[in-house]
Amino acid sequence: MFKVGIITASDKGSKGERVDISGKTIKEIVESKGYKVEKSIILPDEEEALYKELIYMADELKVDLIFTTGGTGFSKRDVTPEATIKACHRMANGIAEAIRYYSLSITPRAMLSRAVSGIRGETLIINLPGSPKAVRESLDYTMDSLHHGLEILKGEAHDCAR
Ligand code: MTE
Repeated sequence: MFKVGIITASDKGSKGERVDISGKTIKEIVESKGYKVEKSIILPDEEEALYKELIYMADELKVDLIFTTGGTGFSKRDVTPEATIKACHRMANGIAEAIRYYSLSITPRAMLSRAVSGIRGETLIINLPGSPKAVRESLDYTMDSLHHGLEILKGEAHDCAR
């Protein structure tokens, strides 16, 4: 069973001024796919705090997969991609590209997400946009392929032939 960490980047959420529906939505979806949520946390849109939590979840909790939600847009406070790039050893751009590609068929505003995806050690890190709707749409499209990617990352699968 793959272990998951969830980080919601939200200034308002971290102060209790907004209910974190997006984090809960990720939890529901990944649990329905048989993943175990190891930790879920709401942090302010601060690059250093996000970076430290990504590293903690990857290196100490050793989760297999981290989803962030929020902080991928154009606001000056949106710094989730920067924290993620700093935490990753290798980028896995295809996942963020696939999410944007699929999301553009739903809304042209998907082009406004600066989300990235990459790998730190044996942990895959994926940025999702902040809205619960966007979270659901992004995961609908990617979850099944992510499972195969995680198997390869963990050395549990080598053969991509279908
Ligand atoms: N992706 C999907 N699938 N559905 C959406 O509604 N909203 C977009 C985009 N990606 C959206 C989406 C919008 S309006 C913005 S501004 C960006 O995600 C960034 O969102 P964030 O700043 O909350 O991370």
